[in-house]
Amino acid sequence: MIDKINSLQLQGESELVAAKSPAQVEIWRTKYLGTNGELKALMSLLKDAPRDQKPELGKRLNELKLQLEASFESQKNLLGTAPIGPSIDVTEPGVTLGEGRRHILSRTIDEIIDVFGQMGFAVADGPEVEDEWHNFTALNIPEGHPARDATDNFYMGEQSGVKRLLRTQTSTVQIRAMETQPLPLKVVAVGRVYRPDTHDATHFSMFHQIEGLCVDRNLSLVDLKTALLQFAHAYFGKDAEVRMRPSFFPFTEPSAEVDMKMHIRGQWQWVEIGGCGMVDPNVFAAVGIDPEEWRGYAFGLGIERIAMRRYGISDIRWLFENDARFLRQF
Ligand code: DAH
Repeated sequence: MIDKINSLQLQGESELVAAKSPAQVEIWRTKYLGTNGELKALMSLLKDAPRDQKPELGKRLNELKLQLEASFESQKNLLGTAPIGPSIDVTEPGVTLGEGRRHILSRTIDEIIDVFGQMGFAVADGPEVEDEWHNFTALNIPEGHPARDATDNFYMGEQSGVKRLLRTQTSTVQIRAMETQPLPLKVVAVGRVYRPDTHDATHFSMFHQIEGLCVDRNLSLVDLKTALLQFAHAYFGKDAEVRMRPSFFPFTEPSAEVDMKMHIRGQWQWVEIGGCGMVDPNVFAAVGIDPEEWRGYAFGLGIERIAMRRYGISDIRWLFENDARFLRQF
């Protein structure tokens, strides 16, 4: 009997090692550990064994059972479970995962902030829901001015007697920066602005601006133009140019429109990108800065303008429709 136990062990172990697939391991299990298997058959012989040998033989049989079961488990784990369905064809082309990327506007914003950062401008910000003081009054846009018309603004109702609206310009952040930060001051602010325009290829009721403000002693138009030119060279290339055309904004005096020459599809072209000027003394007065001691320059540029011209995007609505076929191109 003891010989039979030993040979079953040897035979079982060697056959198990030879089982090279989950299916073969399963066949092995039925043959050796199954209800009608070899082990059960051997165990059934125990009752006929001589009495004095029974305890020893019983112990050996039990050890054999545990051993075969353990070997079975480890061989099964080694081979893994049986594959479900057809096996994988590694020569198939495969499924491409959709690759995400940052929105072209977000990238443009980061690049622009980066350039101004290198020119020494810190980043400031302010809320998109503003009060009339920051959007108009402090910016020298008095009560009754047409810019305050209900049809040109998204008014949001009153809160504690203060009229609120979605800001129409990032110039609001000029006021917030001067109210809270010590002088001298050199900041840019990027953000969304809102105007109730009818949507078409060049108008959208929400867009982005970058605002710049520098307040120091002895600043002049030369510093303003230098800053804009430095930005243009860094962002559009060393052949870029800046042109200022006299204009009017309530918060600057003198004021100008800013054009920059940028490289568009093989050609240098003038593109109007925003406004600028020297901070109006009335604006300084509104935030308690002495206009005799301090000078300031400011500018506000349209981000979509820059991105659209630079990347040849002819319809502003595409920037906000989130159609992956459009966004993937950039
Ligand atoms: N806030 C103006 C606008 O939205 C743009 C602008 C013009 C900003 C002149 C300025 C500036 O800072 O000095 O049309």
